Amino acid sequence: MKIGIGNDHSALELKAEIISFLKEKGHEVVDYGTNSSESCDYPVYGEIVARAVAAGEVEQGILICGTGLGISLAANKVKGIRAAVCSEPFTAKMARVHNNCNILAFGARVVGAELAKMIVETWLDAEFEGGRHQRRVDLITAIEEK
Ligand code: RB5
Repeated sequence: MKIGIGNDHSALELKAEIISFLKEKGHEVVDYGTNSSESCDYPVYGEIVARAVAAGEVEQGILICGTGLGISLAANKVKGIRAAVCSEPFTAKMARVHNNCNILAFGARVVGAELAKMIVETWLDAEFEGGRHQRRVDLITAIEEK
């Protein structure tokens, strides 16, 4: 799978670990930055990755900031994006299976590297169930049109 990844300054080390993990699993990764340890603004990277996912440049996105919150809030402003902050595998699975989320977010100051890898693996293994969940996702999308 082609996966876009983005982060702020708080997540450089964790991002490097996640990129290696994804590549080991055979995924293609597009790194949208930041790659500097200078303090930066997480909405910038949230938006870049969200637009790449919405445009189909990458199939899914992963966003990491200190908590996962700010960067996912920014991503969710882009039409067609459903970004979920997941700090454990169960939520990551359900975010795909029921909510068909297209961006996974987590916090570098919340989860350690091994838990983050477990979250990512669970997310990537899970598939949207459709059916009644499609109707609910469509209702979320309809809000964007109002
Ligand atoms: C940066 O200090 C921090 O605010 C950011 O990484 C993130 O946690 C925001 O939601």
